[in-house]
Amino acid sequence: MNYQNSLEFAQQLDTEDSLSHFRKKFHIPTDPNNNELIYLCGNSLGLQPKTTSTYIQEELQDWAKLGVEGHTEGEHPWLPYHELLSESMAKIVGAKPSEVVMMNTLTTNLHLMMVSFYQPTNKKYKIVIEADAFPSDKYAMESQLKFHGHDTKDLVLWKPREGEELCRFEDLKQILEEQGDEIALLMIGSTNYYSGQSYPLKKITELGHKYNCKVGFDLAHGAGNIQPNLHEAGADFAVWCSYKYLNSGPGSLGGCFVHERHANNKDLKRFAGWWGHNKETRFNMRKDFDALPGAEGWQLSNPPILSMAAIRASLDVFEEAGFENLRKKSIKLTGFLEFLLDEMNNKSISVITPKNPEERGCQLSIQVKNADKSLHTKLTEAGVISDWREPDVIRIAPAPLYNSFSDVFGFVERFKEVLK
Ligand SMILES: Cc1ncc(COP(=O)(O)O)c(C=O)c1O
Repeated sequence: MNYQNSLEFAQQLDTEDSLSHFRKKFHIPTDPNNNELIYLCGNSLGLQPKTTSTYIQEELQDWAKLGVEGHTEGEHPWLPYHELLSESMAKIVGAKPSEVVMMNTLTTNLHLMMVSFYQPTNKKYKIVIEADAFPSDKYAMESQLKFHGHDTKDLVLWKPREGEELCRFEDLKQILEEQGDEIALLMIGSTNYYSGQSYPLKKITELGHKYNCKVGFDLAHGAGNIQPNLHEAGADFAVWCSYKYLNSGPGSLGGCFVHERHANNKDLKRFAGWWGHNKETRFNMRKDFDALPGAEGWQLSNPPILSMAAIRASLDVFEEAGFENLRKKSIKLTGFLEFLLDEMNNKSISVITPKNPEERGCQLSIQVKNADKSLHTKLTEAGVISDWREPDVIRIAPAPLYNSFSDVFGFVERFKEVLK
């Protein structure tokens, strides 16, 4: 047997991995006998950092001790609490801190961004999304079209070609060449939840802008996974959630990016709330709305501090590891998974995710011919937490913060067994 296809080799890679100690900073789910499961589902819900409970507990204590005074007198006062997150979050998505704010949840932020960046005219009103966009994005786009008196057929789908799984940039180009005059907005998932394909954000933004369209991205599967470089890409806006690769807990707050060329434009249409109002006069209560500069100006409500404490705990772990280091490990870890799958030499499985690491994050989507969900059930029984997408895809996402090369090896061994 090939040494590179052995547990010993996987363990050697773990020994050489300078980030391997970060695994100990997370709670790894276990089976009823307390054995660690192989958790490869960070693309759905990231694991809990061990520090999360301490960060939340600190806020609970401030609340218990100080009551309302916690807004100003707490160890980390709640009034400006969201500001504690912006710098680390901005590094991860490649933005300036002023362009980023954590607030609401992904779909809510998407609608708020559409208020500002989807302003259709009689001539320019269509929206482009990728065909396999996450359903919530599609529902949001369709409802916005209807809200503005347009039809859901005005949602233009960027589709893979017949018999293919991935979207080609040249086909998006063709859509713009043919319908660019009528398209108002391109709203694309940075990394597709199903195929794992990462799209070229800068190229897409430049293409959209050439046709005078606004361009926004859904980074649900990109934030904490790939390096989207939002500022440099020039995207008009982006939204994401923090419960996947950002390990901030189920239903935790989302993030929002507004490029600085818009972020200080107080005249841009927006739905407003008091948390987006000038901090100096917010509590005067009688003032007309005066939008804060930066992405903060899109905030509506005072935010849930306990959820933000969980985000802070997670972002501190990212800071310590360094996102560039994580991305390097991620490329290696997913490359190892790909290598082991190739070595299986099994004609009934194929990876639909692009081979080029630049065009994917950590997730590989494995299509299994003639399989159904029972395959996923068997994998779960074998101690692997992964996820299944109808009709026939298993998504495996080794997260560099807490997954090891041995996890990847262990998954492939169990996968072989289950396929038998
Ligand atoms: C790509 C994508 N978009 C949108 C959503 C919806 O997110 P939320 O429920 O936070 O609005 C998800 C959730 O998993 C997602 O994966």
